[in-house]
Amino acid sequence: MVITRRGVLVSGGAIAALSALPVAAEPQTVSPAADVAKSDGSAEPVCLTDFEPLAKKKMTPMGWEYMSAGAADEISLRWNTEAYQRIRLRPRVLVDVSRLDTRITLFGQEHAFPILLAPVASQKLAHPGGELATARGAAAADTTMVLSSFSNTSLEDVFAAAKSPPWFQLYMQRDRGFTRELVQRAESAGYRALCLTVDFPLSGVRNREARANVKLPPLPNLQGMKESKGASLLPSGLDIYTPILDPTVTWKTIEWMRSFTKLPILAKGVLNPDDAELAIKAGTSGIMVSNHGARNLDTVPATIDALALVTERVAGRVPVLVDGGIRRGTDVLKALALGANAVLIGRPYVWGLGVEGDTGVAKVVNILRREFAMAMALTGRTTIASIDRTVIWS
Ligand SMILES: Cc1cc2nc3c(=O)[nH]c(=O)nc-3n(C[C@H](O)[C@H](O)[C@H](O)COP(=O)(O)O)c2cc1C
Repeated sequence: MVITRRGVLVSGGAIAALSALPVAAEPQTVSPAADVAKSDGSAEPVCLTDFEPLAKKKMTPMGWEYMSAGAADEISLRWNTEAYQRIRLRPRVLVDVSRLDTRITLFGQEHAFPILLAPVASQKLAHPGGELATARGAAAADTTMVLSSFSNTSLEDVFAAAKSPPWFQLYMQRDRGFTRELVQRAESAGYRALCLTVDFPLSGVRNREARANVKLPPLPNLQGMKESKGASLLPSGLDIYTPILDPTVTWKTIEWMRSFTKLPILAKGVLNPDDAELAIKAGTSGIMVSNHGARNLDTVPATIDALALVTERVAGRVPVLVDGGIRRGTDVLKALALGANAVLIGRPYVWGLGVEGDTGVAKVVNILRREFAMAMALTGRTTIASIDRTVIWS
């Protein structure tokens, strides 16, 4: 595929062009009209971080603070992106890269490319369309969404708007009967995997959210649970716990979950290889290396720095996914080179959502997908299986 103008990304032809990525296509030219600026004079975003300032302008100050903040001094937030920038690539040249195959299979589900949408709570704070707009954007861009259990739209309604069956993220509730019913609702709706968030027994230091006095819109998946009424993620005074998170969860809880659901369970929020080992022993089907977008415990390492340690320990026994700080196609390539089976993005698609609803979500995914394909081709890798440690300049 030859793309001669970067404007193709924002033109109506973007999706058609991208869906042809796995196979060689005829050289393609794009009309100059694709490059025109928007009517408000601002240029079309051409990379993920271009969406950030546009989203800030569009969202309410409270919505913006909630979506963009990191924990405490935001050290890990910075490290998450900087760590990718430090990793250098080792390309191979004179490889026939006219055909690329970016497909992967996870838990029996085929994905056209290894990029999923991470669970992000309360998306109506970013855009009135909230999670429904994200589901439509994910469908348009042919990716899979992981729905947060703290969504502002019910899991059934989101499922109905999705194309590729989404995955469901679970925050364990103190009321285990309620948690069990929630999991069973997700399973009977048709969700394909369950991501149990394991790094969030309570909310960490969130100074920016506290200053902005963030209030979450209603969380319909928790409806009927008495603790959910007016619950806040930021308890006051000396209290550090919140009624809508269970601080007693242990690896045994995963064994309990396996007794009533057939869905693959992924442990989301693992950084320590010792925990990866325990996750496998407890019967998880997959591991997500994540530091919760650096929103909970500050000064933990960048996820890409933890990834290699975890993938070495896991040694292929279960799929390993990673999120945090992925902003470029080369970041996706680096994560796969260090052993990840797939990656997820959080804030970048929320920026797209904030700017243009479902269209913005799809644009963000298409840009990253295309950059990833370019990174594969320019390092001489034509299949996912051929992306290994030798891609990294070490
Ligand atoms: C505003 C916001 C809300 C989030 N809500 C959840 C959530 O409900 N459940 C969860 O497991 N992770 C949640 N996360 C973490 C993301 O799933 C993901 O780990 C993180 O955003 C990835 O980092 P990135 O934003 O740098 O791509 C949230 C992240 C953000 C930014």
